[in-house]
Amino acid sequence: MSRFRTILIISIGLLFGLVSCSLHFGSNKDNLIVYSPDGSIDVKFFFDSVHCPMLSVSKDNVPLMVISHIGLDVEGINMADSMQLSWVDRRQCDSIWYQTWGESKEIRENFHELRIGMKTDTIDMVLEIKVFNDGLGFRYYYSCSDGKYALMGENTQFQFLQDGTCWSIPANFESYEFLYREQPLSNTQDANTPMTVRLDNGYYLSLHEAALKMMPEMTLRQVAPLTFKSELAPDNTGSGSKMRWTGNSDLQTSWRTITIGQDAVDLINSSLLLNLNAPPSLVLDLSHVRPMKYIGIWWGMHLGINSWTPGNRHGATTQSALRYVDFATANNIDAVLIEGWNQGWEQWGGSQDFRFYESAPDMDIDSVIRYAHRKGVEIIIHHETGGNIINYNYQIDSAFHWCKQRDIHAIKTGYAGAMPDQQLHHSEYGVNHYWDVMTFAAHEGLMLDVHEPIKPTGLRREFPNLMTGEGVRGMEWNAWSDGNPPSHDATIPFTRMLAGPVDYTPGIFDITYRSLKKYPHQKWNQQDASQCRVHSTLAHQVALWVVFYSPWVMAADLIENYQNHPMFQFFRDYNPDCDWSKALIGEPGAYVAIARRSGDIFYIGAITNEEPRDVDIPLDFLYQGRYKATCYQDGPKAHYESNPLDYRITQQEVVASDVLTLHLAAGGGVAVILKPIVE
Ligand code: NOJ
Ligand code: CA
Repeated sequence: MSRFRTILIISIGLLFGLVSCSLHFGSNKDNLIVYSPDGSIDVKFFFDSVHCPMLSVSKDNVPLMVISHIGLDVEGINMADSMQLSWVDRRQCDSIWYQTWGESKEIRENFHELRIGMKTDTIDMVLEIKVFNDGLGFRYYYSCSDGKYALMGENTQFQFLQDGTCWSIPANFESYEFLYREQPLSNTQDANTPMTVRLDNGYYLSLHEAALKMMPEMTLRQVAPLTFKSELAPDNTGSGSKMRWTGNSDLQTSWRTITIGQDAVDLINSSLLLNLNAPPSLVLDLSHVRPMKYIGIWWGMHLGINSWTPGNRHGATTQSALRYVDFATANNIDAVLIEGWNQGWEQWGGSQDFRFYESAPDMDIDSVIRYAHRKGVEIIIHHETGGNIINYNYQIDSAFHWCKQRDIHAIKTGYAGAMPDQQLHHSEYGVNHYWDVMTFAAHEGLMLDVHEPIKPTGLRREFPNLMTGEGVRGMEWNAWSDGNPPSHDATIPFTRMLAGPVDYTPGIFDITYRSLKKYPHQKWNQQDASQCRVHSTLAHQVALWVVFYSPWVMAADLIENYQNHPMFQFFRDYNPDCDWSKALIGEPGAYVAIARRSGDIFYIGAITNEEPRDVDIPLDFLYQGRYKATCYQDGPKAHYESNPLDYRITQQEVVASDVLTLHLAAGGGVAVILKPIVE
C-alpha cells in the first residue's frame, strides 16, 4: 500500500473514529444465534408454531427474556405468522467515535449484528439485531408490493423469565411527569419507557427504544404474567388503543432496546442508545452547539411571586432581565433564560395564541440581548407553544429567523397544553412535530431544550443541537403540588436519565420558600405555595447539578437566594462540558454516586432517598498526583424534613488510592470538586 493511501486511511479513521467492520453474506440459516463481542449475552432467533419470529435473550447462560409475536400489526396483511426465512447476513463492528458533548466524549461502538430476511406472500420483512456487551437492540423493516398500508399497532411481547422489582411511571400518551413507582414486576400493569427491572436473580434490565422517528412511541402493557406487550400511542382517528399509520414502501421502526447489567449502575454507564442512533450529518450548523450553565426568570413564576403575563407581577421586565445578566456575568454562568418575554401569555390555557417574535410591552428584548452579548452571556429564548402546534408551525420560520438576526443560539420550547385535533403528544403526529422542530433548528444553528417533549431516544447523536429536555416530574412540581420525595430523585438516574439528558432544573436553595415572606402583598401566592416546599436537603440540591446529567444545567432558584451563599461556589466552579463520566455505586430509588471529569477537574455527585447513609467512594478514577477535594455536604444535623438547610463545606487532600467516606443525611447529598494540586 502506498504511503499516501496509508496516511489517507489513517486520517479518515481518526476523523470518524477507529473503525473495524466486516460483513458476511449467506451465513448459515440453521444456527441463528448472535453473541455480544465479549460472549456474555446471546440472542437466539427461532419461529414459533405458526412461524412467527421469536428471540430469546440470555446473559452468562442465564435465560432472561423471550421476545415473541415479533412484528407490527398492519391492516389487511397477516404479519404475525407464516413468515418464511429467505436470507441471513452477519456483520461485526468495533469503532470509537467522539461526541460534540455528552456524559463521555469518547464512545466505543462494538457489536455483533444478525439480519434476517423473511417473507410472506404479500410482504418482505427484515429483522435487524445488534448485540453489544451492554445489551441489545432490534428493529424491523417492511416493504410490500403496493407500498401503502396502515399500521394499527405492534404485536411484540417481552416476557421476563422471572419476577423482580420494577421502577417505572405509568403508560401515558400525553405526559411523563409522574412519580416513579417501585413495585413487583408482576404488579406493574403498564409503563412508559425506560422501564427498569431488577430480576430476582440479580440482573438489571431496562426496556426502551432508540432512534424514534416517523412512528408513535412505544409503551408497555402487561398482557400475561410477566409478559409486556408494546402499545403504540394512537392517533386521533383510532379507537381504543388502535392507531392508524400510513407508511410508504419502506417502513423502518425505531429500535426496541434492552440494556442489561450485573449492577444497577451498569445501566447508567451504557452507551447502547447512542450507539443505535445515526452519526450527525455533515450539513448541520453545529458551530454554536455547546454545554452551558444557566439561570432564568423562571422560579418566581412557579412560586407565584411573578407572572408570565404583563402586569404588576410580570417577571420578564427589562430591568429584571438586565439584573439576571449581571448576575450571570459575575458568577461564571453562560446563559439566562427569559420566560414571559413575549406576547400571548394571556391566552395560555385558552387559544394558546403565543407570539414568538413580539415582546411584552415592559420588555425591551433587543436591548437585553445586546447588553447580554456585550457581557458574553447567551440569552435562551422561550417558546411556550401551549401545545398549539398549528400556531407554532405558522410562525416558526420567522421566529427562528428573528433569533438568527439577533445572534441567539438557544431556544427552550414548551408544550404545556393539548395538541390540536385531539392528537396526543406521544403519537406519530407529536413525534413528527418534535422531529421537524429539531431538524429545522439544527439547520438554522439553534440549540434546543424541549419541555413536555417526546422521550429522548438518543437522537442527540444525529442532532447534537438537541441539548436537553424535560420529560420528567421536575422541580416545578415542588412549587405547586405535594412535590417530589427524595426517592423520586434517587430513581431518575436509573430510569428517565437512561434515555438522555434531563432538564430537571435543580438547585433550589430556599428549600422552604422563606423568600415568599418577602412578598407579603402577594397573599394569593403565599396561600398557594405555603403548603409546598422542596423535599430534600440543600446539599442534595447541589449534588443534583452533577447527578442529573444535562449539558445545559440550570441553577433554578431566584438569584437573591444564591447571593453570597457559600454553597453556590460549587455552581460557579462546575463545568458541564464533561469529557468523561462514570456512575460508581447505587440502587434505584435508594442512592447513587456519579463521577464526571471536565479537563483535569473531577466532580462527584451523590444523593440518597429518605434514608441517611454513609457511602465509600474509591477514588481510583483520578489521575496520578494530589488533589484538593472540596465537599459541599450535609451538616451533622441535616434532615430533609426537619433541618434541610444544615450544610458544611470541608476540604481535604486526596490521591487515587484513597477512599472518600461521605455521610449523606436523610434526603441528603454531597457534591465534591477535585482539583489537581500543582506541585
Ligand atoms: C412547563 C415547563 O416545564 C416549565 O419549565 C415552564 O416554565 C412552563 N411550562 C411555562 O412555559
Ligand atoms: Ca413541565
